[in-house]
Amino acid sequence: MLRFVTAGSVDDGKSTLIGRLLHDKELIPSDVLQGLTDLAYLTDGLRDEREQKITIDVAYRYFEIQGRKFILADTPGHEQYTRNMLTGASTADLAVILVDARKGVTSQTRRHTLLCSLLGVPQIVLAVNKMDTVEFQQNVFQRIEQDFYDYADRLKIASIVTIPVSALEGDNIVHKSAHMEWYDGPTLLHHLQHVHLGSLLNQVDFRLAVQCVVRPHQDFRGLAGRVLSGRIRPGQQVTLLPAETTTTIRTILGPGGELDEAVAGQSVLLTLQDEREAARGTMVARTANQPERATRLDVNLCWTDARPLQVHTPYWLLHTSRKIRCQVEHVHYQLDVDSLHRQPAQTLELNQIGRVRLVCSEAVFFDPYDRNRETGSLALVDPQSHHTVAAGMIRGAALDPEKDQRIYPYQASIDRVQREQRQGHLACVLWFTGLSGSGKSTLAQELEKLLFAQNCNTFSLDGDNLRHGLNSDLPFSQAARKENVRRAAEVARLAFEHGHIVLASFISPFAEDRQQARQRIEPGRFLEIFLDCPLEECLRRDPKGLYARAQRGEIPEFTGISSPYEKPQNPELHLPLQPLERSLQQLLDLLKIRHILPPS
Ligand code: ADX
Repeated sequence: MLRFVTAGSVDDGKSTLIGRLLHDKELIPSDVLQGLTDLAYLTDGLRDEREQKITIDVAYRYFEIQGRKFILADTPGHEQYTRNMLTGASTADLAVILVDARKGVTSQTRRHTLLCSLLGVPQIVLAVNKMDTVEFQQNVFQRIEQDFYDYADRLKIASIVTIPVSALEGDNIVHKSAHMEWYDGPTLLHHLQHVHLGSLLNQVDFRLAVQCVVRPHQDFRGLAGRVLSGRIRPGQQVTLLPAETTTTIRTILGPGGELDEAVAGQSVLLTLQDEREAARGTMVARTANQPERATRLDVNLCWTDARPLQVHTPYWLLHTSRKIRCQVEHVHYQLDVDSLHRQPAQTLELNQIGRVRLVCSEAVFFDPYDRNRETGSLALVDPQSHHTVAAGMIRGAALDPEKDQRIYPYQASIDRVQREQRQGHLACVLWFTGLSGSGKSTLAQELEKLLFAQNCNTFSLDGDNLRHGLNSDLPFSQAARKENVRRAAEVARLAFEHGHIVLASFISPFAEDRQQARQRIEPGRFLEIFLDCPLEECLRRDPKGLYARAQRGEIPEFTGISSPYEKPQNPELHLPLQPLERSLQQLLDLLKIRHILPPS
């Protein structure tokens, strides 16, 4: 089955071309649905739109020629609105772009081509029509062809075929032209019939958008929805979003009864192993393969409304079966359709294409459009006029850490729990704090040796070492120490999430910084170890001679001398000045009491 769309205006001869195609094949379309007020639009959420009486005039013609079925999304010739084109092209395998041989490639041609590229239409046929009006001259065709390639080469289009035709005379539509001996390519119909089609559906990432929860009686509850992509079987583990609850698929019901498997495109009813919070808009994904999530999105938009885009103004975002409030926070640029240059812009007007940053009132669960047309596309609706004002293709999460506290990292393929199960001990962060010379590094090193001997996975982080590399840009001001500890805590967290017992030794003199480090780690796994060594003893030891220098005033802001040390109030372990062996024993005991290490 080939889904295709035609782009071009009446003047370019679009209706004639379609008429010719059907006429010459003596085809009365099996099912001509003229003026169908249907929206096979970008997303499922459009059911709402239909209720709001927003219609786009697209007629779908279905016909079959020698074994291949065709669905042609035909948009009224006089309507040049990009919106109609978007509607048809969003699900098309192929687009026939028409140009008039006398006019050649126009801005309109370029816009349609650009849209096809943005929408991921893999195949384009450039039909150079009205060849009869230019005496079937090869050089006219070649010039147009060259113009087109000059433009399209800069876009992402998998395949382009150019065909010289005369729809009026019937040249190279169904029958090979007798007037263009110089052309040895296929006729339009031949190409449409034989072009190789890959599936546009993503077969890998299971995503189901819940349309409604079905509950005919107390004992039955199912989630009805369409499989947007991927496949799923009973017994597989899934996560419901946004609730983030995990369960297992019990059964899958199709129109004909129970199914072994549901695949992309099917509408099914899922029953789950246990009752979970779900509603229209819930997305179901495999636990091990979840969509991205973000409240800020970078999106390619095509504006389809007469009223221009307004930033910081509420719109409805329709995505899968969800409807979420959003605003355009920023217009990154507008694309000049002809030059493809990015131009600074404050807004987008009718038919303009650009990239914007959307900020949504809730997290959106998506895949980039390039990967998944279903979960990567969206529409914007004006809440007042109810017009669909834009179609959008999601590029990805807008990374703006300053503003966006809700960047969701992707799920690790192997999580900490799996690692802990295999290695036989839990992960934790031992945070050694105390004055310089209090013995943090020495104690941590000795403990690490013992743990290593017990086959534990350990990971050492030491202030002095980090300050030679990762943190070599940081001085010892209060702000710099804060940053020093912040980075250390981030690295500790990474190692922790990879299952390690992390031994972090930093003076970390400020209680607030230590508290922030603690908050980055799962509760109960951050163990603060205070080496309560009196300053006199540290001065006596002075292993690096730094105290002496600090006392001479050579080192500013030296902890204990010219910069404060805030003692921990509630450390997990308080170690007074005592023999190393005793401290080690207390540490091992702590790890056992906290179940980090198995009982011996
Ligand atoms: S902290 O500020 O973040 O807690 P960190 O543990 O990384 O310090 O580094 C401390 C080490 O840096 C000390 O062991 C010492 O060798 C060295 N150092 C150099 N200047 C200073 C200073 N002004 N205050 C403390 N330590 C210093």
